[in-house]
Amino acid sequence: MGIDQSDLEIKEKVINQLRGVVDPELGSDIVDLGMVKEVDFKKTGDLHITIALTTAGCPLKAQIQKDVRLRMKNILEITSVKIEWTELTDAERAQTMDRARFNLSQEDVVTQIPRTTKSIMIASGKGGVGKSSVTANIATGLAARGLTVGVLDADIWGFSIPQMLGVDGRLAGNEETKKIVPLIKNVGTGTLKIISMGFLVDENKASLNWRGLILNRAVRHFLEDVEWGDMDYLVIDMPPGTGDVQMGLAKMLPRSDMIVVTTPSKTVQTVATRVASMAQSYYLRIAGVIENMSAFINEEGNYYEIFGTGGGEKLAQELGVPLLGSIPIDPFVSNGSDSGVPVILGEGHAAESLNLIVDEVLAAVPKVNPIDCTAHGTLETSVTISNN
Ligand SMILES: Nc1ncnc2c1ncn2[C@@H]1O[C@H](COP(=O)(O)OP(=O)(O)O)[C@@H](O)[C@H]1O
Ligand SMILES: [Mg+2]
Repeated sequence: MGIDQSDLEIKEKVINQLRGVVDPELGSDIVDLGMVKEVDFKKTGDLHITIALTTAGCPLKAQIQKDVRLRMKNILEITSVKIEWTELTDAERAQTMDRARFNLSQEDVVTQIPRTTKSIMIASGKGGVGKSSVTANIATGLAARGLTVGVLDADIWGFSIPQMLGVDGRLAGNEETKKIVPLIKNVGTGTLKIISMGFLVDENKASLNWRGLILNRAVRHFLEDVEWGDMDYLVIDMPPGTGDVQMGLAKMLPRSDMIVVTTPSKTVQTVATRVASMAQSYYLRIAGVIENMSAFINEEGNYYEIFGTGGGEKLAQELGVPLLGSIPIDPFVSNGSDSGVPVILGEGHAAESLNLIVDEVLAAVPKVNPIDCTAHGTLETSVTISNN
């Protein structure tokens, strides 16, 4: 009886994807924690996974299920996913907890990002596609919905977040904790906590001619030495492409989701694919694609597809992730960036589409519900989902 090589490969792909599913409470991935009890793939495309939870009826189950499901979509051979839920035995649970504690003690970088904060990297293959505009607007939109949102401007060289959010100032330290304090901007009932290289250097005088490793160290400081405090989301404006900073962040924030920004143009879409494959090699989940500069809409409401059409949809399909929305070319976007009042707070086509995108982001990257898993509930034991 020969072992079917391709089935083994798919099983391995499944396990690799599951390594990106993190138990939000324990902070490690479910494979490492010994929660994945069985992975069975059939030629028919049916996948059967058994996952043991720390506690039956754990409210985090919904989140784990969603993450598993989203990740299995990355494996084209799989047509349906059946997840069976069981509970760890007392002995297994003790082992899982030990493992989680051990992992925490081994963490190379102890970031100040709370475990219950969902971090979202806004990435793109190249610059100029609107990554920073999207970051500033999504963060502002989330805050306008009453949330506390961190904004990390990780584009050390090309920082533009201070300008776009209309925040000016210098970072100061907390004398007691010896940590850097982010600059605060209130939006409605929500709050933005902002960190950017722009708050450390004088834009006109600075020649930030640093090499990758030094840049990476700067970003590391922003994660280790900033007093971020409670946050629902951390939105990160990534530098374009796939350099040291991007890889460093991927390693330091393994629980991050990534959103890829592209324009309708074919070349932009091709380089965006490279960013996506970097994300995948670090097990980061790609939550979706946003197409920016989709079309110009004139006052009569006519569309002009200046940069072509369909790039976002095509990239989303290629990556097996949703297209979270498209943003038209709208002078209010750049006006908003220049004036420091993001367009999402105003009116018009771009504001409307950005607001829809924020709702999609909330659905695609659900806020972590920090209820702990102490209550025993009823355990719905299995669920089958079609994978398309
Ligand atoms: N949808 C849009 N409509 C009009 N101008 C836009 C739009 N998106 C971005 N811009 C403008 O394009 C330029 C590049 O955007 P930016 O967000 O800085 O890109 P990136 O961060 O990817 O380099 C900025 O001047 C910005 O104001
Ligand atoms: Mg930028």
